Amino acid sequence: MLKTKEILDEKDKRLRQISKEVVFPLAKEDKDLIKKMITYLTDSQIEERAEKYDLRPGMGMAAVQLGVLKRYFVVVHEVEEGTFDTYVLINPKIVSNSEEKIYVDMGEGCLSVNREVEGIVPRYARVTVEAFDENGQKIRVRGREELAIAFQHELDHLDGILFTDHIDKNDPYAGENLYRAI
Ligand code: NI
Repeated sequence: MLKTKEILDEKDKRLRQISKEVVFPLAKEDKDLIKKMITYLTDSQIEERAEKYDLRPGMGMAAVQLGVLKRYFVVVHEVEEGTFDTYVLINPKIVSNSEEKIYVDMGEGCLSVNREVEGIVPRYARVTVEAFDENGQKIRVRGREELAIAFQHELDHLDGILFTDHIDKNDPYAGENLYRAI
């Protein structure tokens, strides 16, 4: 079982590296890691389990956050109380996006950033992502609102980018009126 302390902190330089494309078939170690990531993210959003296992709530995690520099991530999206949609996206690419941009009103968060960060992170309101699933089949998924943000946040991780990079340090709320808050 994955432990919170195994997740790299933002100070770790590996988080700044560009992850490498995955070659199929997927290695057993990657399959196992994906299972652990799904379990962690799901349990972390169930209060009772999060407390029991000391998990930080999060809906997304990229392999690089566990020190594995490969281009894949997992998003576990709670669609209604206790019901989750799970996305495993390997070698993902955004193939289309909305004009409209949004941001998380409460501020974006990241399992690797263990502090409160204020400011606006503009993201596309809707994205379509092409990727491969664990069997190497090409898939195409659409995300809107918080799911779209999660996809963009995790894609950034694969390129060594953290959400804090998008915030204007001198004016964290710059552009507040240009984008829609969610
Ligand atoms: Ni993150």
